[in-house]
Amino acid sequence: MRKKQNFKWNTLSLGTCYYPEHWDRSLWRSDLQRMKANGIFTIRIAEFAWSKVEPTEGKFTYEFFDEFLDVAEEEGMQVIFGTPTATPPAWLTEKYPEVLNCRMDGVKFRHGMRRHYNYNSPVYQKLSARIVEKIAEHYAKRPCIVGWQIDNEINCEADEFYSESDTLAFRAFLKEKYGSLDVLNEKWGTVFWNQTYTAWEEIYVPRTTIHDSTNPHQVLDYKRFVSDSAVRFCRMQSEIIRKYKKPGDFITTNGMFGNLDNHRMTDECLDVYTYDSYPNFAYCLCEDPKHSDDLNDRKWSRHLTEVRSVCPHFGIMEQQSGANGWNTRMEAPAPKPGQVMLWAMQSIAHGADYVSFFRWRTSIMGTEIYWHGILDYDNRDNRKLAEIARIWERTKHIQEMAGARYLASFALVKDYDNIWDAGTDVWHERLAKKSEKEIFTASQLTHTPMDVVYLLEQTEVQELSRYPVLIYPHPVILTERKAELLTEYVKAGGTLILGARTGMKDDTGKCVMSPMPGLLAPLTKTDVREFTFVGPADDPVHMDWDGEAVPAGIFHDVLAVDDSEAKVLARYGASYYQGEPALVETTCGAGRVLHFGGTFTRENVKAFLKATGALSPWDGLLSLPEGCELAVREKNGKQFVFVLNYQKEAQTITLNQEMTDLDDGSRVQGEVTLAAYETKVYRL
Ligand code: GAL
Repeated sequence: MRKKQNFKWNTLSLGTCYYPEHWDRSLWRSDLQRMKANGIFTIRIAEFAWSKVEPTEGKFTYEFFDEFLDVAEEEGMQVIFGTPTATPPAWLTEKYPEVLNCRMDGVKFRHGMRRHYNYNSPVYQKLSARIVEKIAEHYAKRPCIVGWQIDNEINCEADEFYSESDTLAFRAFLKEKYGSLDVLNEKWGTVFWNQTYTAWEEIYVPRTTIHDSTNPHQVLDYKRFVSDSAVRFCRMQSEIIRKYKKPGDFITTNGMFGNLDNHRMTDECLDVYTYDSYPNFAYCLCEDPKHSDDLNDRKWSRHLTEVRSVCPHFGIMEQQSGANGWNTRMEAPAPKPGQVMLWAMQSIAHGADYVSFFRWRTSIMGTEIYWHGILDYDNRDNRKLAEIARIWERTKHIQEMAGARYLASFALVKDYDNIWDAGTDVWHERLAKKSEKEIFTASQLTHTPMDVVYLLEQTEVQELSRYPVLIYPHPVILTERKAELLTEYVKAGGTLILGARTGMKDDTGKCVMSPMPGLLAPLTKTDVREFTFVGPADDPVHMDWDGEAVPAGIFHDVLAVDDSEAKVLARYGASYYQGEPALVETTCGAGRVLHFGGTFTRENVKAFLKATGALSPWDGLLSLPEGCELAVREKNGKQFVFVLNYQKEAQTITLNQEMTDLDDGSRVQGEVTLAAYETKVYRL
């Protein structure tokens, strides 16, 4: 079972990211007062300000933040204090260049940006532990502090590490995992292309190779190693903060980034997880939002769904409040009137109980002069600030839903082995990316809310059985444990949908020699006889399912049925495997498995949801166009219905039953028109 989260906000609240070190002291008090006047009562500070506390090696000065915290306390502002390890000082990287991360070819990333360090340098670990200890020891008792943020966006900017310290730590990680070189050679299949190792010193983190095609089993272990290194670095800080923090103050960090087991990090190091949500990335000048088929800003709902899997009641540490941009990258338009509200409500609809806007005022210096905050350089009140005040007004009316659960009618199953394998294997990646995107899109367009559930070491069947339907699109890597868990889920009455390539590999990333779906064959009673991509010269292939032609996706496992209990539900309708089984149903205990040989498309997901009874569960209650998102949260038997209009055009919905509009308490029914970007929250 997953560990219960230690900390939950018991009221919905707003915050902002503030950098006292960027501004003249004379602005501090008026900034805090203006925040409060507009509904912001919490700030996050200090996460890049190492030099303010340790200006030179071993010399600690606390006055700067003490002075600021005095003002915060006088103003009754709550503070989340960040540890500064994302930006090591110049004196540090100059004296100890071994702390720097490197490119794959070994060239060091130099001072001048951020997150240029590596987690495994013993010097960096020592100096980081010391600054965190000094900061926590000195500031933790301050009454205004309510929480701690570890580092900033662990694995952002770079989620690969190639320093010498990483190579040394990777060897130690592998020794611990495999014990002997013989085992490692066998697990990595090093006999292929004569890669056999005869000494640990011959092993490195991936290095420059032709086509960047390093041994895939090695790269898979390397990703596990990167995640493990990040979690250990985070845990080191969390253990220090825990010694000093006041009871009730929380420890968090802000995500979410790659090559990182966020679930493990949360369980081992944090009290609550926070996310940085920037949906305006969808509208950067490098994008093509008018022709995209990925739902643009609405796809942040998919990221929020992932976040909810890591931590059901989470916070947003950085919520978009202005245009994105650095001086070196990312040009973007300003959010349109209503979009800042829309994106904040998107976060709340998905389970956020704290929403902190990035940032109070746009920086007037540095790389991020175009990463706009609430206020612009001129510091005048503006429409973004007015929108924040309106968000505050609305959150006052929906306070009661803090801690409410998001209601999903099915879940997408994921696991880190497969995520990381897809990151090293382009065949796997193409299938996984496409299917996951299409499952999310179908869920959005049919108003069938979904969750993501991860299979973790500690996952138990009860955690899966919360969902009547699970889609595990491409469990290419399967383990005994996962196969057992899925079988238990089905026996207990669940419906499991599996897609192409199920059971192709073991957890080293090597292919197994038993027929696919490998370890799940006893459950599915199927056998994959042939398989192929649909190539660029091929016509699309559909499957005939109950008299309908349903798209079968971009890759096809041609199934055979090895048991009379298994029922062929659909057959391929074209290509050289026309007429062969594409979808096979088998029952087991109280549940059933649908083994589908293809990949997922929005159309076939809709058919799967319909066939399993999960489709559009709120249809009786309200009807809405595809352009709006529906989300429902529930607490103490009360249900809160969110309708979010992402379109620049008005959208009309129909409430089929009377409900309370939480903005003004009125009882409403029938047609309601939402203006561009407008959102509604109803209570049933
Ligand atoms: C986040 C980061 C912030 C700020 C923002 C805009 O990734 O945590 O510090 O950089 O993006 O770039």
